[in-house]
Amino acid sequence: MQCCGMKRIASIFAAVLMLALAISSCAKQPSSPNSENTAEPTQSAAFTAAPTECAQPTDSAQPTDTTETSEVPTDKSCVLVLYFSATGNTKLLAERIARLADADIAGIVPAQPYTAEDLNYHDRSTRASAEQNDSSARPAIAEDISLDGYSVVFLGYPVWWGQAPRILNTFVESHDFSGITIIPFCTSGSSDIGSSDDALAALTGSGSWLQGRRFAMSISDDELLSWIGDSLE
Ligand SMILES: Cc1cc2nc3c(=O)[nH]c(=O)nc-3n(C[C@H](O)[C@H](O)[C@H](O)COP(=O)(O)O)c2cc1C
Repeated sequence: MQCCGMKRIASIFAAVLMLALAISSCAKQPSSPNSENTAEPTQSAAFTAAPTECAQPTDSAQPTDTTETSEVPTDKSCVLVLYFSATGNTKLLAERIARLADADIAGIVPAQPYTAEDLNYHDRSTRASAEQNDSSARPAIAEDISLDGYSVVFLGYPVWWGQAPRILNTFVESHDFSGITIIPFCTSGSSDIGSSDDALAALTGSGSWLQGRRFAMSISDDELLSWIGDSLE
């Protein structure tokens, strides 16, 4: 009798245990889909799908619709300051222009950097001078720079023997400037911009090229600001 009683208690206990297990597994089921957190990947996908800096949508609720991006630059001009500089002058000026214009900035970097000897213009046989002597020279660029999304490009370079360095030819010939306003600027020992800006424009056949300007390194922020303002009018 005692044995049967024990067995009964044990079987009741087992039944209660199984019921409790069944209840607890049922209780977990509704929370199971939530544990996958399907909302989160959608959210992070929206961030990774955000368009480029120049095409920031004004309505952050629709960032995944990339068809919106082509409309954005019409109400927010995207300005890039693009420059080549061998010894740092044009770079300094470009950085000031970018800061004052609140613009993006990018440097055209030669695949083969110019050494001091390459730039020795006292010897017309050295690299930079030899390139300027050869109108077909197209020095390679280390890394391409995309103009996508930009509507205004300030294009800076040093004057080399009265013209833009041939690496500018490499760049402008390999890019489509359609829909872009290009504002050339340059630094030099003393020469003016001369025909260097027109020569670059002639190589592209696209874009709207404004009259370029040569700046002394001593130009003030106020003068630069006024030029930037006039250029962007
Ligand atoms: C090969 C070479 C040719 C140059 N030709 C001229 C020139 O024709 N007229 C001039 O005023 N300066 C000339 N310069 C001086 C540069 O234009 C000037 O130093 C410029 O600010 C350099 O800019 P960067 O430091 O951005 O390279 C020449 C410099 C080099 C290296």
